[in-house]
Amino acid sequence: MKSTQRDLELSGGYHLAMTPDIQWTPDDINLSDLEFWRRPWAEREAAFATLRKERPISFYEETAPEGTAIEFPKGPGYYALTRHRDIATASRHPEIFLSGPGAVSQIDLPPEMVEYFSGMISTDNPKHARLRRIVSNAFNPRNVRAVEDSIERVADQVIKRSMTSGTGDFVVDVAAPFPLEIICNMMGVPPSEFATVLKCSNIILSMGDRELIPEGSDQVLAVLEAGATLTAIMEELGKYRIDNPIDDITSALVNAEIESEKLTQQELASFFVLLVTAGNETTRTAIAHALHALTEHPDQKERLIADYEGFSKTAVDEIVRWASPVIWMRRTLAVDHTLSGFDLKAGDKVLLFYSSANRDEEAFVDPDVFDVGRSPNDHYGFGAPGPHFCLGAHLARREITVMWRELLSRTPGIHATDGPSQLASSFVNGIKHLPYSF
Ligand code: HEM
Repeated sequence: MKSTQRDLELSGGYHLAMTPDIQWTPDDINLSDLEFWRRPWAEREAAFATLRKERPISFYEETAPEGTAIEFPKGPGYYALTRHRDIATASRHPEIFLSGPGAVSQIDLPPEMVEYFSGMISTDNPKHARLRRIVSNAFNPRNVRAVEDSIERVADQVIKRSMTSGTGDFVVDVAAPFPLEIICNMMGVPPSEFATVLKCSNIILSMGDRELIPEGSDQVLAVLEAGATLTAIMEELGKYRIDNPIDDITSALVNAEIESEKLTQQELASFFVLLVTAGNETTRTAIAHALHALTEHPDQKERLIADYEGFSKTAVDEIVRWASPVIWMRRTLAVDHTLSGFDLKAGDKVLLFYSSANRDEEAFVDPDVFDVGRSPNDHYGFGAPGPHFCLGAHLARREITVMWRELLSRTPGIHATDGPSQLASSFVNGIKHLPYSF
């Protein structure tokens, strides 16, 4: 592998990382190595371009967390699906590509973790359809329009707060608090608990990054503790909402019945953990990547400012394609199956690399170009069509639309003043910090 990184200095001292002159071979690439995920995005994209072309379905050993009190059995490894068309096929056949054994983790979860982290995202039909029905109403376009006032109000408050200093960390000031406050309002979480919810969801989704779980501490126990803390909040809220239901999601959950049975404590806990983590990290990541992308591509920023109404729909989807906040989801083979000529066996694990599908040359014209007017844009940032397609996609699109409309109309000069600090994670394409100024 050869690599030479070229930098371009834009106005304001901002460094633009150019596509590296890097040549990977498939044998150089180890998607299970955290070091790979610490590489600059352009290098990672180049590696996936090589895989799509030369080894579109490739095998990797699993790495279980080390130095933790909980024992993880050594798993069989997994296949990485990197092409748009293979991921589409897997998503269209949930009876073959199961989510149940663990959609959100490479390793099978030990029993200690199942309690908090086995939400509907890791279930299959018929149970998945029943669970999804309980909350799907809250996230349909009509109900998202009903929380529009809350989205507008929170955006206004967040921007006013951040504008008092005029400079700072965009993730801390804007991208993180905005979706957090909206999902917490929808769940009925009181403001006194917002900071705790943010901290716990950061820990849960960032396994591996030592800024969030310091060196020397047990990462898995930290994640379990975060799950237990969120569960305690849910229990407290839920108890009250059984007798005093209002029009919030927690009331819908605690009063829901599936085949005349209430959700169990475990089902409630994992629902809550799923909704607050999925509703938080992903939208934050997209909003933060947007600032990075609009700073790197000032021509696209100009187009948006000139005609926000005209471009907002295509721009939001391009931001989600570009950011690919969720890098992969896992499926497990229910039966032997041949995918694009490749023989997979029952029990095999496959990781659907949505981030790679989003740069697939077969599916997009100029996939490495950030184009706020891109149409068509059949991206898989919210997952591919199938039963697990993102429940919060309408909400996330509204949040990104409103936040960027307000930022660009009130502070058109907003820009990143230095490069982003990347989250060391193979799962969330996160940005931990992004210095900015108006
Ligand atoms: C830009 C923001 C977002 C992105 C990129 C995103 C991405 C995704 C992806 C890729 C999946 C597919 C899971 C799979 O294939 O197994 C998913 C599912 C899901 N998302 Fe999102 N999401 C976002 C925002 C949200 C929001 C705001 C919520 C609100 C709570 C949410 C809730 C969920 C839930 C509950 C699922 C599981 C659906 C199921 O298994 O039926 N997401 N999301």
